[in-house]
Amino acid sequence: MIKLPVKDLAKRKIADGHIYLSTSEGRRFYLLKPGMLLDDDFIKKHAQLNTVFDFDQVTRPQIIENFSRLFHELRYLQFERDLKSQALKIIEEFYHVHSEEGHFLSFAQSMFDVFNLIPLETLKKMHAQDTQLFRKSFYSAAFSIVTALSNDFYHFTMLRDFFNISLMLDFGLCDSNYSYYVAQACNQENKFPGSGMKWLVGEQATKLEQDVFFAHPKKSYDFIKKSNILAYPELAEAVLYQHELSSGKGFPKGIPRSFVSSWEAVIILADSMVEINDSFTFETRVIEHILNFQNTKLNELPVGKVHFKLKEVLKHFEKLEEGQSG
Ligand SMILES: [Fe+2]
Repeated sequence: MIKLPVKDLAKRKIADGHIYLSTSEGRRFYLLKPGMLLDDDFIKKHAQLNTVFDFDQVTRPQIIENFSRLFHELRYLQFERDLKSQALKIIEEFYHVHSEEGHFLSFAQSMFDVFNLIPLETLKKMHAQDTQLFRKSFYSAAFSIVTALSNDFYHFTMLRDFFNISLMLDFGLCDSNYSYYVAQACNQENKFPGSGMKWLVGEQATKLEQDVFFAHPKKSYDFIKKSNILAYPELAEAVLYQHELSSGKGFPKGIPRSFVSSWEAVIILADSMVEINDSFTFETRVIEHILNFQNTKLNELPVGKVHFKLKEVLKHFEKLEEGQSG
């Protein structure tokens, strides 16, 4: 824990540690979690007060630098073979960071620096709607990169699309009728496919809240289409299928089996791994979470197939580690 003056905190875009406020009597209040956007009003308020925060950093500059460099190198590779070996290097580095108890945020931060194309103003809008919604999207965007790399998607522009789509997947929830219930409906939908709407009705959510939930995939889709940021615009379709199942039991459309292609599955899987929830602690044990992940969705193809492949890759690295230590 270090003392951090507000002017030093203001240099950061995203909180890269736990931030506390301590009173003159020595009592400490928890203010911000790692992965939250530092908004201007927050900084302004504390600049006036000249606040010095207690700061417990979770990221490491060296890790951020390493990942950023690896991704920049990827950008200029052309041959399939080189791309593949670079992707493997990145996954190896990821596994290394994990085994050293490095925080997932170092990885997420470097991804954000390299891949983000969404204007800060838009992200702030999402953050102002719900800080957890932003944090969840920020992490699932980084998740989509790990998942994609483990599934032989390693072209820079495609990874960038994965990242930005995942970041904006739930942007459609930004609406004046958004509420805690709407966010929870998304979580419910991810846990028990097909249950989100029923859950909202059971909680006596208003018709307007139900509408926000029902329309959010389409609204996010429209936003991404309009923003013209994708190298592969056809990838945006994944946004519409974010809560769909290949069995046809999904939401909102009930799409037929095999309609979701494997690249779309990467985005859907990354989204379903992260909840909009305060108590979620995946930052520290992200790999364990991937391995133990019990989502009914994963029993269904093609998402299940993606998960299986991811597991295979990770098993491979586990074996490598065992070999080294033994
Ligand atoms: Fe959603």
